[in-house]
Order: sequence, then C-alpha cells, then structure tokens
Amino acid sequence: MMTPHLTREELADLGLRAYGDNVMIDRSCRFYGAEHISLGGCVRIDAFCVLSASPAGISIGDYVHLSAGVTILGSGGVTIEDFAVVSVHTTVVSSTEANGGGITSPMVPAKYRMPTSAPVVIRRHAAIGASCVVLPGVEIGMGAAVGALTFVRHSVPEMTVVAGNPMRRVSRRRGKMLEFEAQLRQELERQRA
Ligand SMILES: CC(C)(COP(=O)(O)OP(=O)(O)OC[C@H]1O[C@@H](n2cnc3c(N)ncnc32)[C@H](O)[C@@H]1OP(=O)(O)O)[C@@H](O)C(=O)NCCC(=O)NCCS
Repeated sequence: MMTPHLTREELADLGLRAYGDNVMIDRSCRFYGAEHISLGGCVRIDAFCVLSASPAGISIGDYVHLSAGVTILGSGGVTIEDFAVVSVHTTVVSSTEANGGGITSPMVPAKYRMPTSAPVVIRRHAAIGASCVVLPGVEIGMGAAVGALTFVRHSVPEMTVVAGNPMRRVSRRRGKMLEFEAQLRQELERQRA
C-alpha cells in the first residue's frame, strides 16, 4: 500500500540540496527550485505545502514542522531554524511585488518588474500560529510565538508572544524549551553511544 509520505527513494528523486534522516514529507507537497532547498533531520512537512526557492535558498533545520497548507515563497531567502513550527495555512513571503513600481505579473520579462526581496528568518523554537502572513525582512526571534491570523510586518523579539492585525505584543512566552532541547540531545547522544 502506498504510504502518505515520500519514501527515501522518492525523496532522493526530488533533487533537494540536502536532507537529513527521518524526514516525513506528504506526497501532495510541491517543491519548486528543489536544488535550493535544504532540510535537516526529523522534519515533517504535511499535506499541500508549497515551497518555492531561488538561489537565495530555503534552509530548514532539524525537528521543524510545517503543518498542512503552509506556503514558503523563498525568492528572498528563508531560514527556519531547529524546533520551529509553522501552523496550518500560514504563508511566508520573502519577495513581493504588490506595492512595487513595476508590472506585477510573473509572465513579463524581469526588466519590467520591481520586486522587493529580503530574507525571512524564523529562529529556533519559534511557533507561528494558523493562517498568518509573514512579510519579507522579518525575523521571528528565538522562542517567539505568533498568534493565529497575525499579519507579521515587523520582526518579533525572542520569547515574545504577538498576535492580531495590527500585530501587538500580548505576553512573554514561558516554557522550558531550551532545557528540554538539552535533555533531548543528551538522550539522543546516549542512544548513539
Ligand atoms: C497568541 C497566543 C499564543 C496567545 O496565547 P496566550 O499568551 O495564552 O494569550 P491570551 O489568550 O491570554 O490572550 C492575550 C490577549 O491577546 C489576544 N489574542 C490572543 N490570541 C490572539 C490572536 N490570535 N489574534 C488576536 N488577538 C489575540 C487576546 O484576545 C487577549 O487580549 P486582551 O488582553 O485584550 O483580552 C494564542 O492565542 C494563539 O493564537 N495561538 C495560536 C493557535 C494556533 O494557531 N495553533 C496552531 C494550530 S495548528
């Protein structure tokens, strides 16, 4: 019976720049510019995700989860560090033409277009809720949390919880994620020894 996730052979056929062990990618996902996309280990990418990369690259760390329907438009470069999660139907945009001075159609020659591009960085243990939009140049700090339906125009400091449109700070993230990460890494070391 066909599994919902790509087999190791099918993963190899995608032509990704790199990928680690224990990667679970739903068969319905689409990868454009796969040669510019790298995935760490223990990464899960759920149904109907779209990742589109240019030479600026999409780089995804270890233990990252992209939930169903996430779109990553990576022309300006997107980095998602270890243990970060992006929830259902969130879109991360690193290049946009919506307010540029050129023609916005991707079907016209590049000289008539004026995209604004800037890298997006999502730091370790950051969590982005459902149905958010993250714009070019934004950095979501380590351990920050972004509430559902947030329009993220500005960077978010580490361990800060933000939400809404316009986005506002709602609280400080609490938790033991770094302590748990250290414990997990020790446990994995012991298993390997
Ligand atoms: C942002 C979030 C993490 C905040 O959780 P919290 O720290 O417990 O915050 P609270 O519920 O106490 O809310 C604090 C304030 O922020 C507001 N707020 C919380 N989440 C919000 C959101 N997503 N959009 C707008 N405002 C929000 C609350 O209304 C409240 O406002 P008030 O102080 O004026 O009453 C949470 O509400 C959230 O959106 N989580 C993401 C859920 C999600 O998408 N999960 C993924 C499923 S796949």
